[in-house]
Amino acid sequence: MIKILAISGSLRANSSNTAILRAAIGLAPDNIDISIYERLGDLPHFNPELDTESVPASVKDWRTRLKESNGVLICTPEYAHGVPGVLKNALDWIVSSGEFMDKPTAVISASPSPDGGDKANASLVQTLTVMTANIVEGATLLIPAISAKVNNKGEVTDSATVQAVSSLVNALAGAINCANN
Ligand SMILES: Cc1cc2nc3c(=O)[nH]c(=O)nc-3n(C[C@H](O)[C@H](O)[C@H](O)COP(=O)(O)O)c2cc1C
Repeated sequence: MIKILAISGSLRANSSNTAILRAAIGLAPDNIDISIYERLGDLPHFNPELDTESVPASVKDWRTRLKESNGVLICTPEYAHGVPGVLKNALDWIVSSGEFMDKPTAVISASPSPDGGDKANASLVQTLTVMTANIVEGATLLIPAISAKVNNKGEVTDSATVQAVSSLVNALAGAINCANN
């Protein structure tokens, strides 16, 4: 079984980015287990002085879940032309511990705007690249006009988006299989 940790850059209960991750769970083949990391908001603000042998329990949990995953799938909104602080904060906790090293990783951004959160997406790829994550070819995706593609039950209703997320999950799984063989 391939284990993929899914991370939403939005803490909103009705987040369209989290809805995309739920859709990915439904689209994944039987041998792929995608689970959403629910505790991003529990992490303390990153402070290098707290990054010692006895890090807070929430940081330990975050690092362990990343370490145990074969791949990572991130879906994030763009805030003020950048990566949401909660997500950047979570990544800052991983710089010294290195759980992203060579980790096959997919990056989606979804936004109501026509550019699909392209600036946050590019910035996130840059941050993950400096952390030596393996940004999988064919596994980055911009989803524009997201408000029209998710209904009020949180279901993705746009068939092109469903197709794009499905092929992204397959590209990520393919890279994980390559890395493990
Ligand atoms: C503080 C704030 C800043 C935002 N800045 C941007 C932005 O720079 N670019 C953009 O495309 N959307 C921006 N948005 C709109 C978000 O993309 C939109 O609210 C999106 O639906 C949030 O994702 P979610 O539904 O997963 O929470 C911003 C929203 C907020 C609340």
